[in-house]
Amino acid sequence: MPAWLKPLPAMVHPKFSARYYGSGLVAPELLMGRRVLDLGNGSGRDCYVLAQLVGAGGSLLGVDMTAEQLEVANAYLDYHAERFGYANVVFRQGYIEGLAALDLADACFDVIVSNCVINLSPDKDSLQREAHRLLKLRGELYFFDVYADRRLADVAAPGRGALWMARPGRCPVLERFREPGTAPRL
Ligand SMILES: C[S@@+](CC[C@H](N)C(=O)[O-])C[C@H]1O[C@@H](n2cnc3c(N)ncnc32)[C@H](O)[C@@H]1O
Repeated sequence: MPAWLKPLPAMVHPKFSARYYGSGLVAPELLMGRRVLDLGNGSGRDCYVLAQLVGAGGSLLGVDMTAEQLEVANAYLDYHAERFGYANVVFRQGYIEGLAALDLADACFDVIVSNCVINLSPDKDSLQREAHRLLKLRGELYFFDVYADRRLADVAAPGRGALWMARPGRCPVLERFREPGTAPRL
């Protein structure tokens, strides 16, 4: 992690370290004032870190399907607002392939991040279409995940460890993110 980022996780309540299931922070640069969506926020640690990078003029929306995760995330909203000096984080329950149900306006985010969740989605086409709709022109999607640079033959049967995620439909395929209509910048 670069030195300029290191103080930010330390501002997040210690409870969140134990409930972190990401693989390091997805931290785009130049976020000040930006509106950011986190797909599959879990307990919300990345949201609370990124909230400091977007500052009081920006905002973070975390979306996760699991009530227990959101309960933790929401329980510390006031704690972090007090530490940061502003409240700019909101969490909502939902499916990342069902973002349309959240009634979010077109082109309302500058940046979408996701940390170890896209590979879990059973319907990445819907997820990609919605991500494209929700991003502003020249908006960017950043994800930390397993992914493939091409479609894979269905050689990996369920139950074979890590290869399970490499089955078509499981693993995000980079080429799909480059197709017209589903192509936010990576
Ligand atoms: C591996 S954890 C990562 C959580 C978080 N990004 C982090 O870094 O700690 C996966 C999270 O994604 C959520 N999740 C998995 N599939 C989802 C889906 N289809 N829609 C919304 N959330 C989902 C789970 O509830 C869980 O909180």
